[in-house]
Amino acid sequence: MLPPNLHVSQHPAVLHKLGILRDQKTEPKKFREVVRELSWLLGYEALADARVRSKRVTTPIETMDGHELGERIGLIPILRAGLGMVDAMLELMPTAEVWHLGLFRDEHTLRPVEYYNKLPDSANVDLCLILDPMLATGGSATAAIEVLKRWGAVKPVRIKLLNLIAAPEGVKAVADAHPDVEIFCAALDRQLNDKGYIMPGLGDAGDRQFGTGKAAE
Ligand code: PRP
Ligand code: URA
Repeated sequence: MLPPNLHVSQHPAVLHKLGILRDQKTEPKKFREVVRELSWLLGYEALADARVRSKRVTTPIETMDGHELGERIGLIPILRAGLGMVDAMLELMPTAEVWHLGLFRDEHTLRPVEYYNKLPDSANVDLCLILDPMLATGGSATAAIEVLKRWGAVKPVRIKLLNLIAAPEGVKAVADAHPDVEIFCAALDRQLNDKGYIMPGLGDAGDRQFGTGKAAE
């Protein structure tokens, strides 16, 4: 059964763009473009419950009660692959801050290794959005969530995880360890292969964005 904190987009535009993203013929330039577009659509869905506050706005016709985002938002892209999701999220939330977190997955143990952390000194934030295109074993995501919670992102601070493609194994790992974290993804795929890659997936999201390595079999 799917955990209640999992949201899988059903939007036709998302489905269409996923087809382009997954295609092994899609070159890095187009791949980056589609990562950005999908991030925008996913971010739009993930922010549906964000708080707004009222703000007086004067149109060319009259003055009215308008709105502005009322949350202090931190974007946490997981290096490298999460970098491609940042620009779209900043378009949606121009006042958000970006706090880079460097994690790579050891290819033998599949365990995450932290190598960079740009979180500010204090957890002065309402909402943390973790950005990573892939949720595979869930090791990187749970490590990122643990870093955030140790830093001070605990209730009432909310943490949301945004992934383009998730595997059931990763969703379960995150939901079991952190049932308070909502997961938003564009697709929930079948399973992992024996190298920890998502099937059918899209290969290696970092390599495909930045033109390095070769796609995983
Ligand atoms: C990928 C991906 C996630 C992680 C997911 O990063 O971007 O961070 O793997 O796998 P997991 O759920 O099993 O932890 P990778 O470690 O390949 O680093 P990169 O972004 O630098 O390529
Ligand atoms: N990381 C990726 O980039 N792709 C996968 O399928 C799994 C982890």
